[in-house]
Amino acid sequence: KIIYVLNGPNLNMLGTRQPEIYGRDTLDDIAARLVAQGEALGLTIDMRQSNHEGHLVDWLHEAHFEKVHAVLLNAGAYTHTSIALHDAIKSITVPVIEVHLSDPETREPFRHISYVGMAAIDCVKGLGADSYRVALEKAAAL
Ligand code: DQA
Repeated sequence: KIIYVLNGPNLNMLGTRQPEIYGRDTLDDIAARLVAQGEALGLTIDMRQSNHEGHLVDWLHEAHFEKVHAVLLNAGAYTHTSIALHDAIKSITVPVIEVHLSDPETREPFRHISYVGMAAIDCVKGLGADSYRVALEKAAAL
């Protein structure tokens, strides 16, 4: 079973990006732990990051055509702006779990709307890098 872990804009900067909010793990650190966790669960992790909205849309479609088991999606700021991502999630049958390191609902008002969350089946947020671990457990249980 394959799990796509899709990461949106600025998540390539993890490690040094506002560490007081996002922690000190890099995206590669998170990926390495997910791969190990995935092995234990019998899941293959395909971790990707892009700063471009359309890439994320394309990868969601690809997840559908490749019949992956589930997608973990941290869309970064596109979470709060992207009807295109909302529609892409609605366009596919693959379950999508929304992931955030921080808890956007406790932050600035402009982070309180999640177009991703309105289409995703579940959400894990506010646990730092652990949000990804918990989300993968949920994906394994689907
Ligand atoms: C984030 C939260 C978003 O509001 C923000 O734009 C990000 C990261 C998170 O993982 O906490 O880029 O998705």
